[in-house]
Amino acid sequence: MRLLVTGGLGFIGSNFVRHILSSRRDVSVVNLDLCTYAGNPANLADVEGDRRYKLVKGDIADPKAAARAMKGADAVVNFAAETHVDRSILDASAFLRTNVIGAQVLLDAALRAKVGRFLHVGTDEVYGSVAEGFSTEGDRLEPNSPYAASKAAADLVARSYFVTHGAPVIVTRASNNFGPYQFPEKALPLMITNWLGGEPFPLYGDGRQVRDWLYVVDHARAIALVLEKAEPGQIYNVGGTYSCDNRELVGRVRALMGVSQELVLPVPDRPGHDRRYALDCAKIKALGYRPAYDFEQALKATIDWYRANERWWRPLKKHAGFKSYYRRQYASRLA
Ligand code: DAU
Repeated sequence: MRLLVTGGLGFIGSNFVRHILSSRRDVSVVNLDLCTYAGNPANLADVEGDRRYKLVKGDIADPKAAARAMKGADAVVNFAAETHVDRSILDASAFLRTNVIGAQVLLDAALRAKVGRFLHVGTDEVYGSVAEGFSTEGDRLEPNSPYAASKAAADLVARSYFVTHGAPVIVTRASNNFGPYQFPEKALPLMITNWLGGEPFPLYGDGRQVRDWLYVVDHARAIALVLEKAEPGQIYNVGGTYSCDNRELVGRVRALMGVSQELVLPVPDRPGHDRRYALDCAKIKALGYRPAYDFEQALKATIDWYRANERWWRPLKKHAGFKSYYRRQYASRLA
């Protein structure tokens, strides 16, 4: 199978590419990636020499780049997206362009190329905050951040291409991923790397927001399964094995790293901060999906990975672009 993966240099995309190349000898991958700040060639340095892998630098929102990359593809997995909620609050424009227009351009290209399958990778944030119970795939979409709104819009565009054009579209909606190669702006890698550098972790608001934690390798396995088994037109929630509030998460990571409470700095909350996400995953379980990693072990493995891979994350945090984002995001909060 010839797979076009978009955003394969990002966190989830790169973990998926590594997983699919190592688990399926019959798969080759073309990775269309814009190489933005989060699309890091180092994330796939270990597969660069694999003859079944090819990186193409390009933008999914550029019709020519999308059409070129699509040639010969049997299936598409669209990971390409701007994904950080805090950045979408500072400036939403890149989110609308890549996440919505990009998805539409890619869908058009896939339709023209008569690609057999189009898996669009989405997020549980499209359901908005769920006070109690669990979101099912048919629930109303109530996105609250510009990021979540852009992902909800993309899901709806994908749905419309299935209904109107008969495009073989499948959507997955995952919870909070964690694991190796996650850009150190997201809560967990920021926490771990700040603490490795002796700096505090800024905890938003009262820290009582609940997230469901999904190990990225399990997410990669889930996507591979959906790609193989799902019916076009379907949506699948992909949740993790452990759900907790941010205070508990901070406590667990502190205990694993031997860090004192003084390195947890309460700061003003994120505007529009969703209180709780929770997914009902009965549908993907019926397809045969079972997570393989225990949360505590995966968390420990993630911390160990960041400890062992300072050469990967230190340059990212030293980069002028990251420093300027960090100042914009945290300077007034940390003052
Ligand atoms: O739920 C899936 C989503 O999970 C994905 O679609 C997003 O791309 C991904 O970024 C993530 O969104 P969150 O906003 O939940 O993740 P983040 O790592 O930014 O934050 C996790 C929690 O930690 C959230 O309640 C906000 C809090 N937080 C985050 C940061 C960056 C802090 O308390 N301090 C921080 O500095």
